[in-house]
Amino acid sequence: MSDAKKTVTLTDNQTGKTWEFPVLSGTTGPDVIDIRRLYAETGMFTYDPGYTSTGSCESSITFIDGDKGILRHRGYDIQDLAEHSDFMEVAYLLLYGDLPNPPQKAKFESDITNHTMLHEQIHSFYSGFRRDSHPMAVMVGVVGALSSFYHDSLDINDPHHRMVASYRMIAKVPTIAAWAYKYSMGQPFVYPRNALSYAENFLHMMFAVVTEDYHVNPVLARAVDRILILHADHEQNASTSTVRLAGSSAANPFACIASGIASLWGPAHGGANEAVLKMLNEIGTKDRIPEFIKRAKDKDDPFRLMGFGHRVYKNHDPRATVMQKTCHEVLDELGISNEPLLDLAMEMERIALEDAYFIDKKLFPNVDFYSGIIFKALNIPVSMFTVLFAVARTVGWVAQWNEMIEDPTQKIGRPRQLYVGGLKKDYVPLHKRTSGSAKAQQG
Ligand code: SDX
Repeated sequence: MSDAKKTVTLTDNQTGKTWEFPVLSGTTGPDVIDIRRLYAETGMFTYDPGYTSTGSCESSITFIDGDKGILRHRGYDIQDLAEHSDFMEVAYLLLYGDLPNPPQKAKFESDITNHTMLHEQIHSFYSGFRRDSHPMAVMVGVVGALSSFYHDSLDINDPHHRMVASYRMIAKVPTIAAWAYKYSMGQPFVYPRNALSYAENFLHMMFAVVTEDYHVNPVLARAVDRILILHADHEQNASTSTVRLAGSSAANPFACIASGIASLWGPAHGGANEAVLKMLNEIGTKDRIPEFIKRAKDKDDPFRLMGFGHRVYKNHDPRATVMQKTCHEVLDELGISNEPLLDLAMEMERIALEDAYFIDKKLFPNVDFYSGIIFKALNIPVSMFTVLFAVARTVGWVAQWNEMIEDPTQKIGRPRQLYVGGLKKDYVPLHKRTSGSAKAQQG
């Protein structure tokens, strides 16, 4: 962060009192007004529900320019990483700040591979779930429960302990995810194989069965690997901010990642890929698209076009562009020439992007709009779509968690509020209360 040279002045128009606050500049992107002294000096809080104008931290991991549709990890454009890199290399980049050399990459991949197995006792965690549980519920539960295995062998202030915990989470989360699917199918768990790549292992653990050999299609593995890259990290999104806030209390990192999984599950966030497929199936045919576009524009209708819009991207989401390209590649490879859902999605995108409402509000397809169609082509069940997002984003959450712990200025996150509740009341004994709570009476 640059030394504070520029300042801004705040003036109270009733008292004429003024306050000056430093403006800080990063290496690129918007400057920030350093308001850490605001409450101490003014007695007032800022007010920013949804944090639309708030920078929560200093970070060097991911940069997004929403107006230009730019996404970079440690300076590298997402398009370049998706085209030329692989998920393990991107994981190394996010964790360590630059691309690995060949020995560094080989060691990192080997270290991760050798942590992919789960403690045998973890099998019993699954049997506590109904077979038809949503796999994201299983992910939250089992990843959170990893804390019980490692809680006492983890000093988060010890860099080696943090590295081991980080590698364990990155390595084990695909196994936990694939086993959630196997459990839902009533099939035996398939163990990871050290000879396979990260993406190959995930497909193998998902679809291999003990009764026959399973050969991973390299094109599909490459598609999964690219999808993992596209979902790896995304600045201070809702789930990453959840992980940072949980981690700010020095909570066990496994519990922090479980909190990120919980936040990602929401349909406004990572759950959107599952919601897009459900929406496309509900629409069914192109002639019904205008009806749903109309609903999406109706303020009185809670329906939103899933996979459209973004808090930051007010231009195209660069990941959606790569995802659409990957979608065509996977369908071509699989010989699926006329996937109706893809035709429907592309027609919906065309209509929406010609509609004044979507143009004026700068609503473009986001990363979730096409991913579900690829997952469906890969025979990944709809309920597992967000799980795959969580597998990928674990790398970003872990990198952001480490950055937060290593930040010397880090302190527990504790936002304040604008209080609009009742003023002081005297306690009334129960036998003297005639009127109860108005809200309860509304029932
Ligand atoms: C992800 O933050 C990240 O980086 C997230 C993510 C990541 O990688 O971590 O990129 C992953 O979560 C992608 C987003 C997936 N969610 C969806 O596709 C769900 C549908 N999208 C919307 O719920 C919405 O666009 C959000 C939640 C994504 C963004 O919400 P914002 O920024 O708070 O936008 P908003 O609700 O303030 O919308 C601005 C206006 C509103 O209308 P007005 O009140 O101004 O009249 O646009 C409208 C909204 O009603 N609008 C939509 C819409 N999205 C916004 N109208 C119809 N359909 C939509 N999808």
